[in-house]
Amino acid sequence: MVALFVGGTSGIGEHAAKRLASAIKLPTIYIIGRSQTASSVIIEDLGQINANGSYMFKHCDISDLELIDTLCKEIAAQEAAVDLLFLTAGALSFGKQESDTKAGIDLNHMLRYYSLSNSYPVTMTSVLFEALAAKNPTISFIHEFPGFVATPLLKHALGSVIGSIMSVLMKPMMMAGSESGEWSVFLSTSSSFPSKGRSANKENTSRKESRIAQSSIGRVGDGVYLLNYNGNDVTNQRFMEQLRVAGFPLIVEKHTLKTYRVILS
Ligand SMILES: NC(=O)c1ccc[n+]([C@@H]2O[C@H](COP(=O)([O-])OP(=O)(O)OC[C@H]3O[C@@H](n4cnc5c(N)ncnc54)[C@H](OP(=O)(O)O)[C@@H]3O)[C@@H](O)[C@H]2O)c1
Repeated sequence: MVALFVGGTSGIGEHAAKRLASAIKLPTIYIIGRSQTASSVIIEDLGQINANGSYMFKHCDISDLELIDTLCKEIAAQEAAVDLLFLTAGALSFGKQESDTKAGIDLNHMLRYYSLSNSYPVTMTSVLFEALAAKNPTISFIHEFPGFVATPLLKHALGSVIGSIMSVLMKPMMMAGSESGEWSVFLSTSSSFPSKGRSANKENTSRKESRIAQSSIGRVGDGVYLLNYNGNDVTNQRFMEQLRVAGFPLIVEKHTLKTYRVILS
């Protein structure tokens, strides 16, 4: 299994990568982010969790689409296929000036949407997933709310003093990183969330049909799943249907491709 953890140098992505390494016999795991120091420690930990796996760090600032393009080419040259793309790169940004990207797009929006990984970036991602699933029936798309997870996110956003105080105050409401890792690996590998093509194939689904989840479209297994951290469906069916009727999946897809073209040219 080849898995890419974009945002795997910390927090939710790091915990998911570590749990996956213990669950799979021969994992190939790419940790993608900017911090070489954090990645070295994580790669060492992964080797201790499962000595039979291959673990690599790829440096990439995903607020820069050109760098993402280069990264994709590098990975395509190295791997025949990618089985899991786990996207958690993100930050809490409070100041516009500091948070603008090279392309002039708000950093948080760039990290959570254009680089593909939350109200309107959340909805845009869900809607785009429907458009992508229609064209890529062999790929399953899961858009997950991870719950409140004890990670260095607040420290990264607020600095170590205020971030640590806030983390301590919020600790009773947060799940441990290791539990988040368990849920992430469950959602990423469960047969309850098949791709559109796979669920259309009755031979594959009949045996396990009762366990297949309802997709964002309201049908059992249709390739796009909007989930809580524990796999519960959180789709607002009425709202998604209104967006679909208004043609939003195509509009968002076209807008995204146009933005990519503008930035990359
Ligand atoms: N933790 C929660 O309770 C929670 C709840 C809901 C949603 N979320 C969202 O989930 C995402 C992950 O949260 P987390 O708690 O795991 O945060 P975290 O511990 O701060 O990890 C953030 C990850 O994103 C990477 N990253 C940030 N900017 C990047 C960039 N420009 N290029 C490449 N990688 C970048 C960081 O890597 P480098 O620093 O190495 O680049 C790091 O690996 C965030 O979007 C967060 O808002 C978190």
